[in-house]
Amino acid sequence: MEKKDINWGELGFSYQQTEKRFVANFKDGAWDEGALTEDATITLNECAGVFQYAQTCFEGLKAYTTESGDIVCFRPDLNAARMADSCRRLEMPVFPEEKFVEAVVETVKANAAYVAPYGSGATLYIRPYMFGSNPVIGVKPADEYQFRIFVTPVGPYFKGGAKPITIRVSDFDRAAPHGTGHIKAGLNYAMSLHAIVDAHNQGYDENMYLDPATRTKVEETGGANFIFITKDGKLVTPKSDSILPSITRRSLMYIAEHYLGMEVEHREVLFDEVKDFAECGLCGTAAVISPVGKIVDHGKEICFPSGMDDMGPVIKKLYDTLTGIQMGHIEAPEGWIQTICKHGEC
Ligand code: PLP
Ligand code: COI
Repeated sequence: MEKKDINWGELGFSYQQTEKRFVANFKDGAWDEGALTEDATITLNECAGVFQYAQTCFEGLKAYTTESGDIVCFRPDLNAARMADSCRRLEMPVFPEEKFVEAVVETVKANAAYVAPYGSGATLYIRPYMFGSNPVIGVKPADEYQFRIFVTPVGPYFKGGAKPITIRVSDFDRAAPHGTGHIKAGLNYAMSLHAIVDAHNQGYDENMYLDPATRTKVEETGGANFIFITKDGKLVTPKSDSILPSITRRSLMYIAEHYLGMEVEHREVLFDEVKDFAECGLCGTAAVISPVGKIVDHGKEICFPSGMDDMGPVIKKLYDTLTGIQMGHIEAPEGWIQTICKHGEC
């Protein structure tokens, strides 16, 4: 299979249409088999549930080419399970978890020419999503849904890749207590758009959201969880019912403990503690691990000792181990790597 002629090293995190996408429909209480299509356009009634009441959720994962040339993806079963949680919370029908993984595999195989070569710095981002598709005017769930998966080749989420970023403490909230912060609902991202545009206009790369009830505890950013490293080398990561349970963060907790012999604390993190940490990073599928060099809280700066030039040494070790597992040169824990094509033969 010949790869597409793409300048892999220059890719940012943006959408590029590929040939095939997966589509399944839910009607009369059941999912159809689903199939690949070349049609990237969706035509819906003006009153579809997704347009009126934002009944939609999504997932994000990546496919990689390993050192030995296999095409793999990372823990797709956890994306399937998280999407099922999102659907239940939004009164949407669950797309069966095993079928979700099969559909991811089928879609990546069909677009294998877009999976970046090993060592290119790029990956194939996979975006499963679902939405209410039939007309709904009273406030209630739709009866019909569409589940789709498209893929797009991507580079780093933040310009500059592994260069530390500067973030600010946001005055806007992301998720209410007992709300939808713990699921991947489109509405969480809609309400973060004003905050991110404002942050960019003020010269910041991202927002740090605090807990809306007390504004004393660290939650997450618009698209990633936080990890902190203490001065004595422990990994500390915020625990809250209103943050998205990041698959990357859960994997890093395991890697820190079982591969790097670190102590790991998953607990409430007071914003007041942040100034005492040695390193800070954002973790997620898109972000991988993006180091944070500086946090600005209404004019007060917290500058991490790791500085603005490079990743701190502990975050670098976590990054190298995580990406080493994803790219196949470090042995993965059982079940983490789903092989899609052996030696590029799909
Ligand atoms: N938090 C938010 C709000 C996100 O959108 C994401 C991205 O999926 C994450 C965290 C990271 O989650 P994961 O590591 O599963 O990609
Ligand atoms: C992901 O990391 O997959 C996300 O969905 C985050 C988003 C900011 C792109």
